[in-house]
Amino acid sequence: MLPEVSVVILAAGQGTRMKSRMAKVLHCAGGKPLIEHALDAAFGIAPPSRVFVVVGHQAEAVRAVVEGRGARTILQAEQMGTGHAVMCGKKELAGLGERLVVFYGDCPLIRAATLEQLLALQTQSASTCSLATTDLADPTGYGRVLRDANGDVSAIVEQKAATPAQLAVREINAGVYSFDAAAFWKHIHDVRPDNPAREYYLTDIAGIFIRAGLRVTALKIEDASELLGINNRVELAEADRILRQRKARELMLDGVTIERPETVAIDSGVRIGMDTIVSAFARITGRTVIGENCRIGASAIIEDCEIGDNVEIFPFSILSESRVDAGAHAGPFSRVRMGAHVETGAHVGNFVELKKTRFGAGSKSMHLAYLGDANIGRTVNIGAGTITCNYDGEKKHQTTVGEGAFVGSNSTLVAPVEIAGGSYIAAGSVITDDVPPNSLALGRARQVVKEGWKKRQKSPASSGTPVAP
Ligand code: UD1
Ligand code: MG
Repeated sequence: MLPEVSVVILAAGQGTRMKSRMAKVLHCAGGKPLIEHALDAAFGIAPPSRVFVVVGHQAEAVRAVVEGRGARTILQAEQMGTGHAVMCGKKELAGLGERLVVFYGDCPLIRAATLEQLLALQTQSASTCSLATTDLADPTGYGRVLRDANGDVSAIVEQKAATPAQLAVREINAGVYSFDAAAFWKHIHDVRPDNPAREYYLTDIAGIFIRAGLRVTALKIEDASELLGINNRVELAEADRILRQRKARELMLDGVTIERPETVAIDSGVRIGMDTIVSAFARITGRTVIGENCRIGASAIIEDCEIGDNVEIFPFSILSESRVDAGAHAGPFSRVRMGAHVETGAHVGNFVELKKTRFGAGSKSMHLAYLGDANIGRTVNIGAGTITCNYDGEKKHQTTVGEGAFVGSNSTLVAPVEIAGGSYIAAGSVITDDVPPNSLALGRARQVVKEGWKKRQKSPASSGTPVAP
């Protein structure tokens, strides 16, 4: 059983190396702000009520995200170092839980399972502190972990304070710690800002424990990628790549076929059913849920959509905040957006755009149409080139097309207008008035044919080129 744990995630720093107006932990990787990944890991070992995020730089914006997830915040008004950041939470944290797990908000790849391993090591080794480490080929910038003859930690030395021999050590401090909470609060005030940066380094507490005769141990993580700290945008892109790779792998192991998985981008919150095939370069984001046995075409972009079973989204379609029901088809090159709803078995094809439109079961719009603010009934046929004129320059208006209606090609439906069920609209019509059920509406000039017209133009004096009447 897990001991009672409180978690502190440090996220008050500005993240100067990101060169951004936005706080570092609000930058996204894998479709989510870094801080949310850290929260996901924390929630694996503690309930949200015992997870605290230290905020400072852009505190309000970070707080909104953290509180949105049910966790709590601690304010560090002035950033005086990682040790000082935890000290700021003494009032809320001292006495809350036997263990205090601390890690950094710029460490989005850490997994809950690793935090559990760290807690287990601390229990087994009866350590006052256990921390995560890994070996890096290039440890530049990280704190180095020094070990004694027994393999216990003897010190953490920050890059700036390290001797050349210490700089050669490749085992780094990942910034993930589990402390005995009582010992932590007893000793944290012994950390002094006696370094060139005048900061309170959390890492100094390791030496303080050791000098007090307390044990500090390290859990070496084989998969160094899990401990990647994000300090600049190159590392941000790397974290994004790893998170996408993890998600694709998880989906594949759950029965989704992904072609060229290294090319697709699927956010961590997306759900996809068994036997669905996702083609190369697809981008599936936000809260999208896709059913079973679907086909998501190459380069399709699907954001915050709900897609039923047996749906086919052909290549290069863009769908957002919309619903596509079972057995429906969209694309190639369809655009479905803003609460559109393609019902069961309906088809929308090439260069068809649906905005805030219900498109009834079994209906078809196969080519070149704009259907905005429309309510299209079942088994309607929308001809190529049909346009709903939904905007009068000031307001949007509704178009209604009843069940089984046939809208001929190149029709212009001037909203507000209603075409009742079973009606036919002649191709090329401009429809401005309502059409009653089962009627034919023609809204175009009657065709005029002038027989023999060409011959009459060709008088002997003329050049032979006919002149329009
Ligand atoms: C820190 C560790 C280093 C470790 C590395 C791992 C210290 C002193 N050093 O260095 O040993 O190898 O992480 O990535 O801890 N923060 C605050 N308040 C502050 C200062 C920082 O909340 O006053 C937060 C930052 O927002 C950030 C985290 O703490 O999320 C770490 O700070 P950062 O400046 O990135 O530390 P590193 O130099 O990476
Ligand atoms: Mg860092």
